[in-house]
Amino acid sequence: MNNLNHLAIIMDGNGRWAKKRNFLRQKGHEVGANVVEQICEFCTDQDIKILSLYAFSTENWKRPKREVEFLMDLLKKFLISKRENFIKNGIKFTTIGDISVFSNELKDEINLLKSLTHDNTKLKLNLAINYGAKDEILRAFKRVSELKLELNEQNLQNCLDESECIDLLVRTGGEQRLSNFMLWQASYAELAFSDTLWPDFTKDELAKIVENFKYKNRRFGGL
Ligand code: FPP
Repeated sequence: MNNLNHLAIIMDGNGRWAKKRNFLRQKGHEVGANVVEQICEFCTDQDIKILSLYAFSTENWKRPKREVEFLMDLLKKFLISKRENFIKNGIKFTTIGDISVFSNELKDEINLLKSLTHDNTKLKLNLAINYGAKDEILRAFKRVSELKLELNEQNLQNCLDESECIDLLVRTGGEQRLSNFMLWQASYAELAFSDTLWPDFTKDELAKIVENFKYKNRRFGGL
């Protein structure tokens, strides 16, 4: 039976969820943000050690200004509202992606939650914000060079924002692509695609996907 150490999720379908109900797209993001807590709870119950969630990509800046501003504000509210929950449940909050571009106010909230939860060991939550795999790999190359390390696979991997490989990568919302998400870490991930739009995604559906993952024959290129 496979061990699930690192679960990654592309949370897609918020906009379509809202459109189907004649709501603004923003409403879909708001409801979608609330699903995250349930998923963290599932991971701590199942002893999954790393959860990586794709919340905002390096390409999402192309969206209308109003939607981008809404997402930034939602992120700030999320960081504040989840503080007690993360502390209580042993969740170490961290980010992947280049956060240097965010406002000082947002960076302060990010850094505060990181420091308050730094010693937690039950689950590491990687929130991918201003994240793109190509950008991450490029930054890792630069870091290898700054540190004057030998350029090899292990050193490059250690310089990524997250160096642990993904065991299972789930994408909701019906599309079957990786959208520049953790391309290096996903090299031997099992992939699962769900038609459910992210705001409707539940622990129960995730439990079924995880159950299926446990019995996959993972060969990592061997026999
Ligand atoms: C994809 O749906 C979702 C995003 C680009 C943002 C993901 C954000 C959340 C789940 C909520 C915010 C989370 C936190 C933690 C603050 P889409 O807008 O691409 O949907 P569509 O494909 O239906 O248009």
